[in-house]
Amino acid sequence: MSDGNGTVALAFSGGLDTTVCVSLLKEEYGYDEVIGVTVDVGQPDYEFEEAEETAEALGVEQYVVDAKEEFADLCLKAVKANADYQGYPLGTALARPVIAKAILSVAEEEGCNGIAHGCTGKGNDQLRFEAIWRDSDMEVIAPVRELGLTREWENEYAQEKGLPVEGGDGGRYSIDTNLWSRSIEGSELEDPSTIPEDDIYKWTENPSGKDAELVDIEFEDGEAVAVDGEELGTVELIEQLNEQAGAHGIGRTDMMEDRMLGLKVRENYEHPAATVLLTAHEALEGLVLTQEERAFKQQVDQQWSQKAYEGLVDAPLVSALEAFIDDTNERVTGSVTVKLEGGHCRPVSRESDYAVYSESAASFDEEDVTGGITQQDATGVAKYHGFQSRLANGILENAKKGTAVPDGGEDDHGEASDHANGNAVSGESSEE
Ligand code: ARG
Repeated sequence: MSDGNGTVALAFSGGLDTTVCVSLLKEEYGYDEVIGVTVDVGQPDYEFEEAEETAEALGVEQYVVDAKEEFADLCLKAVKANADYQGYPLGTALARPVIAKAILSVAEEEGCNGIAHGCTGKGNDQLRFEAIWRDSDMEVIAPVRELGLTREWENEYAQEKGLPVEGGDGGRYSIDTNLWSRSIEGSELEDPSTIPEDDIYKWTENPSGKDAELVDIEFEDGEAVAVDGEELGTVELIEQLNEQAGAHGIGRTDMMEDRMLGLKVRENYEHPAATVLLTAHEALEGLVLTQEERAFKQQVDQQWSQKAYEGLVDAPLVSALEAFIDDTNERVTGSVTVKLEGGHCRPVSRESDYAVYSESAASFDEEDVTGGITQQDATGVAKYHGFQSRLANGILENAKKGTAVPDGGEDDHGEASDHANGNAVSGESSEE
């Protein structure tokens, strides 16, 4: 705890948690001044209005930092990595390091000696914030966690102290919104068996009989740059797709999520643009990357996503993974048409100068493959295909029958006979 006389920067949203924190940072932690920092990662305007009003009512100096562009760039990086965590496109997770860095900069500029958040001790956000803040000399304070606060206690405390609390969406749910996703938690949704009311969704219409719509996304080096031929800045591009795809009810996730600490939680998310961009990007990778690149990239992407979920996008591992991601994505240039329909989107067309695709080679209508390769050349491949499995199964079969030296097993010279066609196969003499 501070010995007083200090200033603390608080991650400030104007919601219940952070409002209560303002008061506690003075009363319980002895800070003289609390400054509130609100970071714009694409929340709706009313959240800023609410934060501003609350800050004013609390007499807290509020700083608003616009980090939309930086956040949008990170979202596009996530698309390059086809990033998701257990099926959720990582909106909250991606935003936290951006928010944490922006708050730390303000805290440093303002000469703060403490930095605080209103996260509980149960969630992921505390870890994501502190991973960045603990690189500074500031006192890191987490009143909700340290004092073991519940929302009920916070509400009572706020009433007692006459603190201005209303909470978004009537305060019924805990909402976290940014450009990439909107999450809805709490209240009856905490029971995984409760079917959510439709009104928890604000970005997505109920998928109904709306006519299907085609949308064309253009990518350059794996990054979306235009929608339906119109070049857009990243923020606008994401905002536009959120509206366009949201109107078709695309991008709803209702899931059980395993948090970093091991707690399972029920989460509801909306993320129309993320769903469209991830779908389109993966479709283009499918056209331009080789089979083995695609297979290996799945592992790279999974590791990238895991670090992003942990809020550790600055980890050395991430930049190493990005070297592979960026290298492969230099060819992810072209366009994909996605069909938006009834809550789903799927790619229906893709084009690229880098397509690893020969129509004549794959076609049912052409006799030969390409470069002098004929269909008959596959006969040898077909003969070999599954050879080792046939051999192994034959050995097992014979062993079950109790044959002492099973056909195809090892003989005295350590050689295995080929169960499949009777030829001796020796490690020394066979040729590949
Ligand atoms: N479970 C989500 C995640 O860790 C966060 C959901 C948003 N809620 C929040 N209070 N930040 O990414």
